Amino acid sequence: MLGVRLTGTGRAEVSPRLDNHQLSQLVDTSDEWIVTRTGIRARRLVSAEQGVTDLAVQAAQNALAAAGLTPFEVELIILATSTPDDLFGSASLVQDRLGAKRAVAFDLTAACSGFVFGVVTAAQFLKTGAYRRAVVIGADVLSRWVDWQDRRTCVLFGDGAGAVVLEASAQDRLLGFELQNDGSQNACLTLAYQGQPRPLIDDVTVTLGAYQFIAMNGQEVYKFAVKRVPEVIEKALFRAGLTSDQVDYFVLHQANQRILDAVAAKLAVPPERMLSNLDRYGNTSAASIPIVLDEAVRSGHIQAGHTLVLAGFGAGLTLGALVCRWG
Ligand code: ACO
Repeated sequence: MLGVRLTGTGRAEVSPRLDNHQLSQLVDTSDEWIVTRTGIRARRLVSAEQGVTDLAVQAAQNALAAAGLTPFEVELIILATSTPDDLFGSASLVQDRLGAKRAVAFDLTAACSGFVFGVVTAAQFLKTGAYRRAVVIGADVLSRWVDWQDRRTCVLFGDGAGAVVLEASAQDRLLGFELQNDGSQNACLTLAYQGQPRPLIDDVTVTLGAYQFIAMNGQEVYKFAVKRVPEVIEKALFRAGLTSDQVDYFVLHQANQRILDAVAAKLAVPPERMLSNLDRYGNTSAASIPIVLDEAVRSGHIQAGHTLVLAGFGAGLTLGALVCRWG
């Protein structure tokens, strides 16, 4: 078995920006309510001309530049998204637009856990020697799927994309991981298809309809995250032979500052080691972890040799954590 290194990060620039004051012109809410309950002050939304593919390509280009690789050297692209531009998948278009002519590319859907699931999946291909260089992209455009009249959900989400480059190496820097599902709580967070039966001919009926808006039981998701995320992190750390005090930075899915604070408290982690950019981005689903990661790498907070925990949780319900050494 070979090892895996994470060698570059990137993110897409997304505009315009929508702050809480602007949102309060749309629904009955306030900056004070949103900040107190979530920590979010603003989010970015794609322009009408942009989609997930555009954001994903930009994030991947920036990650490849950071890793010093050309698209031609990439052999695997995983696009973690729940909001593809095309339900058949957007990864093929990303592969083409990047010019990654040798790469196999596919979408992976695990909601807000998608990026962590994607990195772990890519790592398996690298560790077996099947491929040597991979790009994992987390990209979502939830603004297309939010009911902008529903104040319980529309204040939470934003659009974005981030990416990371993984390379096979003699030394393994992916130290441990744990992925889990709890389908029994699936109804807590959905973006469900609903259709009406349409008879075609005698005895043959199809169901035609459309996807509905995001529906969420916020309190149940909150309880799930606060209980299960520390557990999944502990398991990943156990596999890595480490404890939380040996971790330099925790890079968690950015859903709610209160969730980040509660997880940090349970793991006895000081707040400065729990990274957050929720105030500026809101919840960007599969994109949130690689965006925080990229900001922290480019600002010099995360440096070669640092030990990181990446952890996602979300619809499914899904959750996962991985421990890695940066660089
Ligand atoms: N502005 C003002 N009032 C609001 C708003 C709003 N935007 N939204 C809800 N309220 C009201 C409710 O109507 C309710 O009023 P009522 O008591 O008169 O009925 C009151 O505020 C309290 O509502 P709750 O839902 O109980 O508020 P809570 O404190 O639970 O906070 C929140 C809601 C922020 C959604 C919280 O439950 C949460 O963060 N849950 C986790 C959700 C999450 O992480 N989702 C994403 C994970 S998965 C993924 O990323 C796709």
